[in-house]
Amino acid sequence: MSLLPPLTADPEAPRQRRARLAEALRAAGGGVAVLPTAPERVRNRDTHHPYRPDSHFHYLTGFDEPEAWLVLDSSGRSTLLCRPRHPEREVWDGHRLGPEAAPAALGVDEALSVEEIDHLMPGLIGGHAILWFPFGVHEGLAARVERWLDVVRARERQGVTCPTQCRDLSALLDEMRLVKDAHELQLMRRAGTISALAHVRVMERCAQWAREGRLDGRREYHLEAELLHEFRRQGAAGPAYPSIVAAGANACVLHHPAGDAPLKPGELCLVDAGCEYLGYAGDLTRTFPVGGRFSAPQRELYEIVLAAQAAAIGALRPGGRLREAHDAALRVLCQGMLDTGLLDRNRHGDVDEVIGTAAYRPYYMHGTGHWLGRDVHDVGSYLQEDEPPIEQPDGAGGWVVRKPSRVLRPGMVTTVEPGLYVRPAEGVPERYWHIGIRIEDDAVITPTGCELLTRDAPVHPDEIEALMRGKAP
Ligand code: GLY
Ligand code: MN
Ligand code: MN
Repeated sequence: MSLLPPLTADPEAPRQRRARLAEALRAAGGGVAVLPTAPERVRNRDTHHPYRPDSHFHYLTGFDEPEAWLVLDSSGRSTLLCRPRHPEREVWDGHRLGPEAAPAALGVDEALSVEEIDHLMPGLIGGHAILWFPFGVHEGLAARVERWLDVVRARERQGVTCPTQCRDLSALLDEMRLVKDAHELQLMRRAGTISALAHVRVMERCAQWAREGRLDGRREYHLEAELLHEFRRQGAAGPAYPSIVAAGANACVLHHPAGDAPLKPGELCLVDAGCEYLGYAGDLTRTFPVGGRFSAPQRELYEIVLAAQAAAIGALRPGGRLREAHDAALRVLCQGMLDTGLLDRNRHGDVDEVIGTAAYRPYYMHGTGHWLGRDVHDVGSYLQEDEPPIEQPDGAGGWVVRKPSRVLRPGMVTTVEPGLYVRPAEGVPERYWHIGIRIEDDAVITPTGCELLTRDAPVHPDEIEALMRGKAP
């Protein structure tokens, strides 16, 4: 498999996003925004988890060092607080950008030492009526803000305005991030392609072991190793979330982490894994036969899930609602449950009745899609907040009054991930027991419909079998 040329982050993109955030601040009454990056996290004793910056912070700065803050006021003026240079620590931990070099490197108006933060912050937030920061995300931030506000209040006698309102910065940033800009889409396409290549590698390796009689002793974690290998060799940071590799019955556990279950010919393997590339997640699921050929009942259920996914994809278009994709997939899945006898027609009636009573839930218990971006379950409301609430099915056989589902716009990115999961139970046809199938792709809404970002991994059963026979799809 060829190596893709590496992409680089565009330093101009964060500057444009800061300008758009300043505009959003002005539209919401002005003020100043304060945003920390993520802390370093201890894994055990003196060992840390690999560092990852906060998604909002990185979106606005492109800066990936810890202990950094962005202060942005509604005029668009930006201040970065970052670690000062430290030759001795840099020998151990690597280069620090430092406040002297930050304005030229990141395009911020000024940069100051984070070591002076408690001294500097009252001066940066004083003079503004509204203080914006993310609520409920960064531990201890609200208390810290209070202390800075106390200092500003003490300066009111000297004519300094103290903010009188604190507002949630995430409310603005979540909405901004929901619609991806051109640079983000470029990175998401790459995250999708690398994720797909990793799935291809997994299927090819598994098929090779099966063909050569070397499946014995192969386990889920051997396939996880193939995923990681492809992610890293293509320049991704690693997985965007813990990789799910679920052999046989484990596929009926929705978030089964790759473990030591053996790969058995005759069974399916469900792999739900995506990479993180320059801060952006892929989220991709394929389900394939370990031995390279679907059995009749496996293929029967697979084709139902694939048809459900096609129906959902067909519903993704600007002006439509996200919920329509779920509803379209659900109808196909429920029809399939009736056709296969997973649900007894005499007892459950037709598709409308199956949906109305939520009789499908033992076999399909999750949603069909979620926003995708810097976070695998990305930010942005799923509801159209500016519309009045309406009565709608709650998915559990009842009704709920809430805002309608979000209207789709070009640049929004969602997953499309229907599935069927069959656990053994009385009345459930035995030929389907322990089969778990999910098919997941990533879709960006375009002006006319949607574009799939992850279709470099085959999805049709014939194509999967062809790939596993060693034939390019
Ligand atoms: N991999 C988690 C999800 O599909 O939502
Ligand atoms: Mn997934
Ligand atoms: Mn997903």
